[in-house]
Amino acid sequence: MKEKTLSIIKPDGVSRNLIGKVIDCIENAGLKIASGKMIKMTKDQAKGFYRIHEGKPFFDSVTDFMSSGPCIVMVLEGDSAISKYRELMGSTDCKQAAEGTIRKLYGTDIEKNVVHGSDSQDTAAFEIGYFFNGLEIMAF
Ligand code: CMP
Repeated sequence: MKEKTLSIIKPDGVSRNLIGKVIDCIENAGLKIASGKMIKMTKDQAKGFYRIHEGKPFFDSVTDFMSSGPCIVMVLEGDSAISKYRELMGSTDCKQAAEGTIRKLYGTDIEKNVVHGSDSQDTAAFEIGYFFNGLEIMAF
């Protein structure tokens, strides 16, 4: 089934000049980039984005990190895009990530893991709507 998912190249990926390498992985996996832009979140915007994690021990740190510099936010589209992109990213903790995944190739630790991807259809709808309006998203 054709799906859309939200991808973020996090501040560590942007500052380490990994934008092209991450996009290469995405396109080589057969996913289409239906929209994309560079943004810099405020701490409050990062807290809103990660509100599902509010109360967890890493919440303050990850929202500091995500608001520390520019990110690339993208809408990806393709067959089973949500699970396909999560597989391509690898485990949250890059030390546990499978060989060849984006996080194994480029991640530093469980927080500075280069990329984010939606984990379900409901989350994808919320996360895409957080950064994009319908007019900004291409249809393939
Ligand atoms: P992401 O997939 O964007 O979802 C939540 C983010 O919080 C995660 O990637 C990491 O960047 C960060 N994080 C830091 N510590 C943890 C942890 N113990 N479990 C999950 N996420 C963590």
